[in-house]
Amino acid sequence: MKKLLPILEKILITGIAAEGKAIAKYNDWVVFVPFVVPGDVVDIQLTRRKNSYAEGKAVYFHEYSPQRTEAFCEHYGFCGGCKWQILPYSEQIRYKQQQVVDNLTRIGKVELPEISPILGSEKTQFYRNKLEYTFSNRRWMKPEEIQMRETIADWDALGFHIPGLFDKVLDIRKCWLQAGPSNAVRLEIKDFCLKNGYTFFDLRAQEGLMRNLIIRTSTTGEVMLIVVFYEDDEEKRNTLLNHIAEKFPEITSLLYIVNQKANDTITDQEVHAFKGKDHIFETMEGLKFKIGAKSFYQTNSEQAYNLYKIVRDFAELKGNELVYDLYTGTGTIANFVAENARQIIGIEYVPEAIEDAKVNSEINGINNTLFFAGDMKDLLNAEFVETYGRPDVVITDPPRAGMHDDVIDTLLFCEPEKIVYVSCNPATQARDINRLNLKYKVTQIQPVDMFPHTHHVENVVLLVKR
Ligand SMILES: C[S@@+](CC[C@H](N)C(=O)[O-])C[C@H]1O[C@@H](n2cnc3c(N)ncnc32)[C@H](O)[C@@H]1O
Repeated sequence: MKKLLPILEKILITGIAAEGKAIAKYNDWVVFVPFVVPGDVVDIQLTRRKNSYAEGKAVYFHEYSPQRTEAFCEHYGFCGGCKWQILPYSEQIRYKQQQVVDNLTRIGKVELPEISPILGSEKTQFYRNKLEYTFSNRRWMKPEEIQMRETIADWDALGFHIPGLFDKVLDIRKCWLQAGPSNAVRLEIKDFCLKNGYTFFDLRAQEGLMRNLIIRTSTTGEVMLIVVFYEDDEEKRNTLLNHIAEKFPEITSLLYIVNQKANDTITDQEVHAFKGKDHIFETMEGLKFKIGAKSFYQTNSEQAYNLYKIVRDFAELKGNELVYDLYTGTGTIANFVAENARQIIGIEYVPEAIEDAKVNSEINGINNTLFFAGDMKDLLNAEFVETYGRPDVVITDPPRAGMHDDVIDTLLFCEPEKIVYVSCNPATQARDINRLNLKYKVTQIQPVDMFPHTHHVENVVLLVKR
């Protein structure tokens, strides 16, 4: 039998570490504990022990931290999202600011200007424009339910995966992340499916009718609903979709997919329009961005606009510059700053995103953009720079892993006057800045909160050639 690890008693939670986990110190160990805040005093049941650190969960609270606030969501403590909702928003952004400072000083090790106070999100609830739900016939159960599992009749769930348990789904009644009609649509679909005997996906057996639900909303008021089925049952599919179309006339794009592969990704699946258009639009300063079922768009639209304005301010374009927008996604930043520059070149490795970027230039009458699809480290090299010209300004917004060494080498080789570095991971950003320090000086730093109640922080840094 597996040996039960010990319970550590009356331990003070002392801080928040990278990745947003609360920590306590015990002897020489750092202990990571979820769902607690600095100042809580708890008994910790260890769940994992390594040489220098351990993981555990709070099983008894001796004292609640004065910093704490009430969780607003009934799913708090089980759901993987909004883990920081027990911290007041002012504290959340203070920790995020600190995360940026710590990474830039400890990993970046470069001379820094004063770091501007983080730009908080005006909306701290219902700020997401996209959510993805999963149907499962294996509902995740609370510990007290497990005791009486024999007597439980409702095993079906429509909600979010439980972190670390790939086949268990937490049934969601109300999610505070996306504005209406998101919750109402999900609840209606679940109710309809249960009443009409529609089966929920069985991940292990790979069977069942209903698989996923993706809801996208826009500041224009348009709503896209994508229902993903596993089984191809036309009659049942039409009955459900007609019911939803009738109940929710505000859905402007009612789409469906039949996904019979092993995994949930839809990027390689055919999307069918059942009713309405196959896309919605997002707008920003009179620009329109077309969003199809598979298109990427920043999930907090209002804060994305603020982020882009910071990028534009940092870039300070005069109108005659050649700008490279690296990791351009669907070209949103490129199109946003296009009128301020001579030419913009966007690079991204998802070909469909590049097609969207071109469409977005076209529908906005922008004709000074060029977009290329390919892996940055292969595409962006000396030959590319020779062919398309040395950039005056580079905007770069890489994924969490940061920039590949070869990409940094190319930047150091082509020496743009300015680099505006947008990052969703201050640790890799700091590492990259350390390398760029050879030729660049950091002159402005602006953290931005795109995701309230999570530990995630976005950071924009302006680097100017020495
Ligand atoms: C943080 S997103 C940037 C999104 C975009 N700037 C925006 O605001 O919508 C990072 C982008 O980098 C792309 N990407 C990731 N790795 C890449 C690589 N090795 N080469 C090129 N693009 C890559 C991803 O597909 C994604 O679109």
